[in-house]
This record gives sequence, structure tokens and C-alpha cells, in this order.
Amino acid sequence: MPDFYPIARRILFSLDAEAAHHATLAMMKTADAFGVLGQLAGLDEGPDPVASREVEVMGLTFPNRVGLAAGLDKKGEAISAFGNLGFGHVEVGTVTPMAQSGNDKPRLFRLKEHEAIINRMGFNNPGVPSMMENIGKSRRGFRGILGINIGKNKDTPNEGFIDDYLKCLEGVYQAADYITANLSSPNTKGLRDLQSESNCRELILRMQERREKLKGENDGKYVPFVIKIAPDLAEDAVKALAAVFSETRIDGVITTNTTIERAGVSGHEYAKEAGGLSGAPLTEKATEILALLRSEMDDAIPIIGSGGVMSPADARAKFDAGASLVQVYSGLIYRGATLVREIAEELE
Ligand SMILES: Cc1cc2nc3c(=O)[nH]c(=O)nc-3n(C[C@H](O)[C@H](O)[C@H](O)COP(=O)(O)O)c2cc1C
Repeated sequence: MPDFYPIARRILFSLDAEAAHHATLAMMKTADAFGVLGQLAGLDEGPDPVASREVEVMGLTFPNRVGLAAGLDKKGEAISAFGNLGFGHVEVGTVTPMAQSGNDKPRLFRLKEHEAIINRMGFNNPGVPSMMENIGKSRRGFRGILGINIGKNKDTPNEGFIDDYLKCLEGVYQAADYITANLSSPNTKGLRDLQSESNCRELILRMQERREKLKGENDGKYVPFVIKIAPDLAEDAVKALAAVFSETRIDGVITTNTTIERAGVSGHEYAKEAGGLSGAPLTEKATEILALLRSEMDDAIPIIGSGGVMSPADARAKFDAGASLVQVYSGLIYRGATLVREIAEELE
């Protein structure tokens, strides 16, 4: 089967980045509904290539080690389509308790020469109730693991942030296989301050307490939750968080979100745009943070590696640094869907 992605990419990259994003999701959903998504994405036909790569992480059976990072399916509208591209897990969101429109446009920039993206979307999302409706429809036929990434509304002051996470936890619990508390988007003012040792400990303990109650109300269903951290944390801050994660026995951690640094892209016309940088310039930094956390944290707590996974070799480096699973966002935009299966094979 020929890989149409190089042609599709040329067309998509001629559009404004956010328009291309919406066009791609719409196309994917349609192709999936007609059962031709795999062919269009240049994937081989034949036996299910992800069937024999099952791996147990956080008590869940993942079909393979590669997942879709949060932010691409913010509304939870294309879950089965992403599953059919070969992702073993799909993380939707970030979703906040109430719908919000996010920052003004333009807010998404491609730095093609660097295989990078800068975004300052600002948690544009439909809010928990609408997200749950979307998920009910779009997960039909999906055999992978569904992660739901949660955050706080822009207008919620940091003093009340825990309530927003608890509201989301309540709202998404039933539908989620795992839940990610996102404390690391650079595009919601003050959000990253929630990564302080005391804020993080309090959040984890309150979420664990609420989960006990939700477990009772959901026939004993235990939903693991993880915290997603930033690559811009200082070494001491990572060590302090590692201690909190070990002490609270959190289910897992995602390293990392996008970076506010501009190393590797300075001089580019978009380098000075505010927001988080992802893709190739983030690869090494994200792996360093992963390795540091791995060396400091209780071995039993799994890490999901995100940040600049652009090739099977990048995925292997995350795995070697201690990740149990990896996630991809920018790599999918620059390399296309064949990357997903190549990584799944590499990490088999
Ligand atoms: C346009 C865009 C939107 C994103 N939105 C979210 C989000 O809502 N929540 C989140 O936790 N991460 C979000 N991310 C971060 C990604 O999930 C991922 O952690 C990051 O891009 C690094 O991975 P990558 O280099 O493979 O892109 C977003 C990234 C991009 C490029």
C-alpha cells in the first residue's frame, strides 16, 4: 500500500495550522466510518499488527507501548479512528469542568525546518459533560486503553484548583481507563505552579481519597491516575516531586509536556511566539527529565515518555531511560501514521 502521507502533508502544510488540524480530524473520522482509514494512512493490510504486543502497565493491558499524547483529540471525537491508526492508547483532552474557548488565534505554529510546533491553545475544550457524550460515540469499536486528561478552568484561581480536578475526576471516572492530571501546560496562567511539592502532594491525596469513594460507586472499578509534568523543572524540583510520587504511591507519571525554552529554534520566525514548544527540539530534554525522575523515584511507579518521539530510535531512547509506554503528538504531524506501527514494532 503506498504511503499517501507525504502528499497529504504537503496539502495540509499549505493550510493554516489550526485549519489543517480540523481538516485532518474530519477526514480521519470520515475515512474511519467508511473503513478505509488504514489504506489512506498507508498502513499494511493483513493480520492486526498490534495484536501480539500486549503489555501490562498500571494494572491495565495496553495493546502496545505507543499512545496518542493529549491535545490532538481535545474533544474526544476520534478515538476509534486513532485506535485504527495503531495507537494502543489514546489520551483525550485536556478537558476542564466547564467549556472554554482557549486563547485568541493564531495560537498554533509549525516550525517545519525543525520538525517542531509551538502552541498556546489554552485548553480550548467542550467541558466535561459534552466530552462524555463525544466519548460515548467515538470510542465504539476501540480496543485500546482510553486516557482522559483533566485540567482546571482558566478562571479558577489557583487556591481552588483542587476542586476543578476533583470535579473532572468525578465526571470522567466511569468512562476512563486511566486519568491524567495535567499540571504542566504553559498556556494556563499559574498552572505550572501547581507542580510545587505541597500542591502536588495535596492534589494526589485528595484525588486518591475521592477515587476510593468513586470506586465504591462504580462496582469496584479502580481507575489509575497519573500526573503530567513539565520539562522545564529544575533538577531539585524533579527530585522533590519524585519523593512525593514515591511517598504517595501514585499510579504513574507522564514526562513531559511542551517546553517554554527555545533552544534549537532561536532565529526562527516563530521562535518568539509565546507557548509550548514540542517535537524534535524537545526530544533530548524530555528524555533527560525522564531519566532523572526514573533514578529518583520508586521503581514500581511507571513512567510514560512524551516529548519529541519522532522516530523508533527516539522511542527506544525513552524506553531505555525507563519509560514503560511512550506517547506521540508532533511525530504524527511530521512523519505520518506509519510511525505508530514502526514504534510499536521497535518496542515489542
Ligand atoms: C497543539 C498541541 C496541543 C496540546 N494540548 C495539550 C493538552 O491539552 N494537554 C496536555 O497535557 N498536553 C497537550 N499537548 C502536549 C502533548 O501532549 C505532548 O506532551 C507534547 O507535545 C510533547 O510531545 P511531542 O513532542 O510528541 O509533541 C499539546 C501539544 C500540542 C502540539
